[in-house]
Amino acid sequence: MLLGVNIDHVATLRNARGGLEPDVLTAARICKECQVASVTTHLREDRRHIKDADVEAIRMLPRVRLNLEMAMTDEMQEIALKLRPHAVCIVPEKRQELTTEGGLDVAGQLSRAIEFTKPLLEKNIEVSFFIDPDVHQISAVSKTGAPFIELHTGRYSEAFGTLDEEKVFQDLKGAAIFAQNFGLKVNAGHGLNYSNVKRMHEIPNLVELNIGHSIIARSIFVGLEQAIKEMKALCEGNF
Ligand code: PXP
Repeated sequence: MLLGVNIDHVATLRNARGGLEPDVLTAARICKECQVASVTTHLREDRRHIKDADVEAIRMLPRVRLNLEMAMTDEMQEIALKLRPHAVCIVPEKRQELTTEGGLDVAGQLSRAIEFTKPLLEKNIEVSFFIDPDVHQISAVSKTGAPFIELHTGRYSEAFGTLDEEKVFQDLKGAAIFAQNFGLKVNAGHGLNYSNVKRMHEIPNLVELNIGHSIIARSIFVGLEQAIKEMKALCEGNF
């Protein structure tokens, strides 16, 4: 499995003091040196962590594959069409939430999702929808033309180590296989850490895991390069 590193929380820390440190671009360069598959950033409507200038600077870095997480709004579509990141992951967004709390309801707004996806695909941007492991959502995405889904692993992460873990994990695995049978490629992410990530290997053919908080949290103690390398090894099956 490939690893995409979400560096939003480098910007969270930077913005806490309003200055320039820690530098988001340096974080992106370290990701590149560690040869991760993608550098992921979520440009939120309220710009609470990553700012437009950060995304633009990361996009200019050679040999960095930018995965831009964004809401399904006209503003974000315009930014994506201008910047042309390698990939976009379309996520739900609520102003008050601490993080992306659930998957996007694609089934409930299918015609909007189709119309939103089309110009992005025309610019050769790889489109993914961040959805809950739910068959209705998966079949809706299969109608949009997007080649990827990213399955929300938040419920699995919360259930990890509890009596609910097995059921929640099997639901996730079943959803991934269901999506692959529709011809969709499957990524996953949210709440994954150095322990619960290992079970992702039990899900066949997952392409990429997008992981942020646990890596940035660990980097405080061991450094970003080491934190990324440890997670990359786990993604590659070296436990
Ligand atoms: N994937 C998506 C679509 C997300 O929105 C997030 C959180 O921004 C992540 C992955 C990473 O989640 P975490 O920071 O919990 O690893």
